[in-house]
Amino acid sequence: MAPPHNGNLDDTSPMKDPSGKTRPVPAPTVAEAEEALHEAAKGNTNIDTLVGRLVIDQGLATQDEVQHCLEQANQLRSEANQASLVQILVDNQYVTQRQIARLRRIIEAERSGQKIPGFRILGKLGAGAMATVFKANQLSLDRTVAIKVLPRKFSDNPQFIERFYAEGRAAASLNHPNIVQAFDVGKAGEFHYFVMEYVDGRTVYDDITKQKRFAEKDAIEVIMQVAEALLHAHEKGLIHRDVKPKNVMITKDGVVKLADMGLARAVSDKEAAEAEAGKAFGTPYYISPEQIRGEREIGPPADIYSLGATFYHMVTGAVPFEGKNPSAVMHKHLKAELVPPDHVNPKLSAGVSEIIEMMMAKSPARRYQSCKDLLIDLRAVHKGEQPPLAHKDILGEADLAAVAAAEASAQSAEIPIDQTRGQDVRPWLMTAFIVTLCIALISLLGNIILIAK
Ligand SMILES: Nc1ncnc2c1ncn2[C@@H]1O[C@H](COP(=O)(O)OP(=O)(O)OP(=O)(O)O)[C@@H](O)[C@H]1O
Ligand SMILES: [Mg+2]
Repeated sequence: MAPPHNGNLDDTSPMKDPSGKTRPVPAPTVAEAEEALHEAAKGNTNIDTLVGRLVIDQGLATQDEVQHCLEQANQLRSEANQASLVQILVDNQYVTQRQIARLRRIIEAERSGQKIPGFRILGKLGAGAMATVFKANQLSLDRTVAIKVLPRKFSDNPQFIERFYAEGRAAASLNHPNIVQAFDVGKAGEFHYFVMEYVDGRTVYDDITKQKRFAEKDAIEVIMQVAEALLHAHEKGLIHRDVKPKNVMITKDGVVKLADMGLARAVSDKEAAEAEAGKAFGTPYYISPEQIRGEREIGPPADIYSLGATFYHMVTGAVPFEGKNPSAVMHKHLKAELVPPDHVNPKLSAGVSEIIEMMMAKSPARRYQSCKDLLIDLRAVHKGEQPPLAHKDILGEADLAAVAAAEASAQSAEIPIDQTRGQDVRPWLMTAFIVTLCIALISLLGNIILIAK
């Protein structure tokens, strides 16, 4: 499992703008960062308390360290010296100036939630790589909703905003018990936001963190519900592109809900995944090879791969590919052979292992082509039977056309062709050998008879 998260304010990586282009950003001076923090925290009288809380929340420094810095600041102030918590945190090298700049963006985002007309913000639910999610009351309908607010910088990119609205509308057209319902997209001031069903529950990521791995049956039941959700979305022409444990939620009643369906990505899949580097589970552990390659036509098998990687993590307690950095992990998605899940967790049934291996085939054509097929296998293993499609003997017949297409392009697909050829040739050789042997025996017998006479 990934190491516990510490210091997720990615300090060294260059900023990505919404178009995905990388541009170096000069570190702000401490004075600039402080001024920005004060500006961002308007209305909050005690900037030290706010900064202290965020620094601890983000895992940059411990409570004791912050307390120590606060005492230093108070001491200096009592001696009539100019001192701020930010300056002392930087002096003690607990945070860098760039991290302070990112704290400012977080404070801005937190404040943004307070300003959406028609909603009363009840609290913060969480924050991901690109947005902050709030729990809110929609005043007109008096219902609880979740609102995802995008950072201000996204507003500058008209293409992204266009996509955000188009995909938001598409997501709102979906209606399925296993999909977090999208309600609305909108703009308040400079912030764009996405209103959705509030899920009172936890994510699969939370469960993996707590209990390391899922019992096989529980995992199958979760994956079956996500597959139902994806089947519905795929039939409507929507590909999720970011299926991962953090986007699979489980309600208190055990209903599984796929989150972030139809949420537009600001950058390419690969860059989005790279941008998450440094966060626990944030590295691209679940991305499909074709998304890494930046292919334009991404179909249902990409989501099936990511769901397979999620399934792998749930039942083995380990991500399919580990690496020192995002590109090492992505390289493995492209090239490295998958350690079969039942080798990592020997208690796992062969059926589940076969399903995951098929979901995570490198070539999209060798995976399940639709969640309908995947569900056939999942239902079978759920009943304790063999998965009819993934079961190795039947694979060739079930998906012959797709496999044949894959053979032409995918290197890995050459092995079955060679094996098949080998098997075709062997009976002919055997027949020729037996015929020759018979002829030799007959002629030997003939000679013996002749000599005997
Ligand atoms: N509809 C929802 N109802 C309740 N909580 C939610 C909802 N959507 C998101 N959350 C919470 O907010 C957190 C942040 O969600 P967000 O989608 O911004 O990031 P993420 O999926 O956790 O990570 P990443 O940004 O890496 O994709 C989630 O982890 C979840 O705990
Ligand atoms: Mg999410």
